[in-house]
Amino acid sequence: MKVAVLGYGTVGFGVYEMLKQAEGLEAGPVLVRPGKDDEPFKVSSIEQITEDASVDVVAEVMGGVEPAFSYACAALKAGKHFVTSNKALVAAKGPELAKLAKDKQVGFLFSAACGGGVPFLHNLSLAVQSDEILSVGGILNGTTNYMLDQMQSTGMSYADALSDAQKLGYAEADPTADVTGLDALRKIMLACAVAFNVLPVDGLLHEGIDSFSAADSSYIQSKGLTCRLIASGGKAENGSIYAFVEPVLFERDAAECSVLKNFNMAKYNGKNSGRIVMIGQGAGRWPTASAVLRDCSDISCGRRFMMKPSCEAGSADNACCAHRYLVRIPAGIAFPLPVEACEEADGVSYCRTGEVSVSAMHEAVNKLRADGNSVFFAAIGE
Ligand SMILES: NC(=O)c1ccc[n+]([C@@H]2O[C@H](COP(=O)([O-])OP(=O)(O)OC[C@H]3O[C@@H](n4cnc5c(N)ncnc54)[C@H](OP(=O)(O)O)[C@@H]3O)[C@@H](O)[C@H]2O)c1
Repeated sequence: MKVAVLGYGTVGFGVYEMLKQAEGLEAGPVLVRPGKDDEPFKVSSIEQITEDASVDVVAEVMGGVEPAFSYACAALKAGKHFVTSNKALVAAKGPELAKLAKDKQVGFLFSAACGGGVPFLHNLSLAVQSDEILSVGGILNGTTNYMLDQMQSTGMSYADALSDAQKLGYAEADPTADVTGLDALRKIMLACAVAFNVLPVDGLLHEGIDSFSAADSSYIQSKGLTCRLIASGGKAENGSIYAFVEPVLFERDAAECSVLKNFNMAKYNGKNSGRIVMIGQGAGRWPTASAVLRDCSDISCGRRFMMKPSCEAGSADNACCAHRYLVRIPAGIAFPLPVEACEEADGVSYCRTGEVSVSAMHEAVNKLRADGNSVFFAAIGE
């Protein structure tokens, strides 16, 4: 199968190089911006790919919703299979692309968009065929895992951990989506779409690590706890879907604490399979390119869908999940939800709440922040 590549950046270069060596796959033209087509394999218009009858698969690794969406539609309408590493595209337009792919009887796979090289969506979409999936999630953002690991293992400040992550190429020049939890949220949206056939687009909640300080790190460590940023999705007993991202504190012997540096830990819980956990490189040129090629090989073996064509956009209901939380607020402020214990240290209070719903917790913290208060919070893991 000949694979055309849209984008020749970090992942695109890796995909093109791997295609040249891959069994059963062939490297096709690579789309670059006009004026950058300085080698024979590069083209600068999408028509040179969609009108090329020798191209079987289009692999999009440019990023962003447009023009990626228009190019995806053009490729599918031209009868090409479509593979992408672009979570923003699938989170915004996945159901439309899945329906179009079905109409055109071609494949649409996006394993690299969630978990990088970790075959999370690949395995999840296979598991869905024979098992009922109860929950999905885990550590889905390598940048923030690297930062949390550095802060907690060396006492590094948030700013130094971020600058380190940027120097190592883990964090983007604009790291907002990573540190606010938005990147992990987009990934859990995709996992929910695969697992539950609903792409949650409303009611989503995300808290990142941008409020986590070196002082918070030393406080939680003095309690024998370790912080990780966890994406959670699942089906509640009332049938509604929940999907949120927030820091979670684990006892040191929890599996999450052994996930170091920029690694990911993706998991699902199947009614019959039980808990399945996958750990590996969640980003980077070669791990991500390997996932794109896995999807291309899957297509050559006849796989067509990761998100079912019947998948619809829907709402998340995060009132149906409850945890206990640790919250850091300025000393002297009353936390507006039930609190079991508070401890004061250096002008701040660390309070442990009773069981409160995820939606109530995020709402309470948003109100405190709107009043100008600095707040950090994390769920207390089971
Ligand atoms: N990097 C990772 O580790 C990783 C992991 C998982 C998923 N992903 C996803 O993979 C995608 C690509 O990431 P990346 O890190 O490879 O990004 P990147 O290094 O910025 O590469 C993107 C490439 O696409 C090109 N491009 C953008 N718009 C284009 C257009 N309209 N026509 C032609 N070329 C265009 C860019 O060209 P210019 O340089 O000229 O703008 C750039 O060369 C993103 O969706 C990202 O979320 C990345």
